[in-house]
Amino acid sequence: MKDSNLNISVDGQLLNAIFETAIDGIIMINNKGIILKINPAGEQLFGYAPGELIGKKVNDLMPMPDRINHDVYLYDYQNTGAKKMIGKGRDIVGLKKDETTFPCHLSVNEFFMNEERCYAGIIHDLTHRKKAEEEIIELNKQLEEKIKVKSNDLSTVVNKLLQTNKDLEKEISVRKKAEQALRENEIEIRTALKKEKELSDLKSRFVTMASHEFRTPLSTILSSTSLIENYNKKGEFEKSVKHFNKIKSAVKHLTETLDDFLSLTKLEDGKLELHMESFMLLEFCDEFIKENQTLLKKGQTIEKELPKENIELFFDKKLLKHIVFNLFSNATKYSDEGKVIKCKVKVVDNQLIIKIKDQGIGIPSNEQEYLFSRFFRGSNVINISGTGIGLNIVKEYLDLIDGSIHFESIVNEGTIFTIMIPIK
Ligand SMILES: Nc1ncnc2c1ncn2[C@@H]1O[C@H](COP(=O)(O)OP(=O)(O)OP(=O)(O)O)[C@@H](O)[C@H]1O
Ligand SMILES: [Mg+2]
Repeated sequence: MKDSNLNISVDGQLLNAIFETAIDGIIMINNKGIILKINPAGEQLFGYAPGELIGKKVNDLMPMPDRINHDVYLYDYQNTGAKKMIGKGRDIVGLKKDETTFPCHLSVNEFFMNEERCYAGIIHDLTHRKKAEEEIIELNKQLEEKIKVKSNDLSTVVNKLLQTNKDLEKEISVRKKAEQALRENEIEIRTALKKEKELSDLKSRFVTMASHEFRTPLSTILSSTSLIENYNKKGEFEKSVKHFNKIKSAVKHLTETLDDFLSLTKLEDGKLELHMESFMLLEFCDEFIKENQTLLKKGQTIEKELPKENIELFFDKKLLKHIVFNLFSNATKYSDEGKVIKCKVKVVDNQLIIKIKDQGIGIPSNEQEYLFSRFFRGSNVINISGTGIGLNIVKEYLDLIDGSIHFESIVNEGTIFTIMIPIK
């Protein structure tokens, strides 16, 4: 017995010590909300003197609207069992004696004393925590503000960078275009310079070649005229005839060479006009052979193979003559005395085909690709006079009338030239 009494008194002291020394406020009220007991921490929390709150309504410790609602809460719970606070914890606002408020956490439980329903609440002061929370919220706000400012700054910088990038891209593209234009200009200038150089090369080659080509007939003319003068003085007129003929052929050669140059210029300027006329093919061939007998060297003969049926051509006769003349004169010029020149003419599928075959010196195979270039002369014709424009003109003429030219040549065996001209 003694022991259990002792225990009760020890428990009582213990509970009392806890009640008195607890850091949180402990408050007990009856079912009418009258404060039955409050610990020192509770009294200090609300700013009341020891014992000052006993018998007062707990409502006095609440600000409006809880102050007037609290009685209703108690009434409701006792009649309906609807729990608003009981068994739960909640953050609420407490009212101090000096009318100031403070945040606190309240947990309430009910108990029975002498069969009367009572309530015990533990109040934990949240002032510091709330303050800390508010400080954190404030700091957060400031931080967010700063981040906002910084991110604004950052986005301004990023935008500036993007703009700079765009400007740079623009500048790069402008520069690239300028570079491209410069390069194109450079190419144009180079091409123009190249053309100019080619032209001046051509001019100087022309001057060299013309002076060489003209000198021979001119000196023939000069010597023949002085011989004629001598013969005339002596009255030997019949001897002059030979020299008159020499002068004639020299002048003819000069005229032909000049004609070639003229055709070249006309072709280059695109000013060459075709003069179409009707003529018979066989008559044309006979006329040509007659006219050019003088081209044959000693012992050279023409072997002709003409179509059996005569046909009428509608063509630029002078141009055709010029083409055939160039090929024929080459055949005689680049063949030795006594050789045969074969001329074959036929019409197949509306194409006039003319073949001229010689037994001459031929064209070196490694030079054949340059044959139609202007001023080309074979390495084996150095001692034979010529300007190197005959075949170039032939090719240009044939291009003009949609014709074509082919050749086969073997050095020291001979050459065959074939031209094909559409005639309808
Ligand atoms: N039938 C041929 N046999 C050998 N070589 C030829 C023949 N035809 C042309 N050639 C070569 O081709 C070159 C060019 O011939 P092209 O007729 O254009 O000029 P050319 O005869 O030298 O002078 P021209 O302008 O007075 O005709 C000749 O110099 C010659 O080397
Ligand atoms: Mg020639």
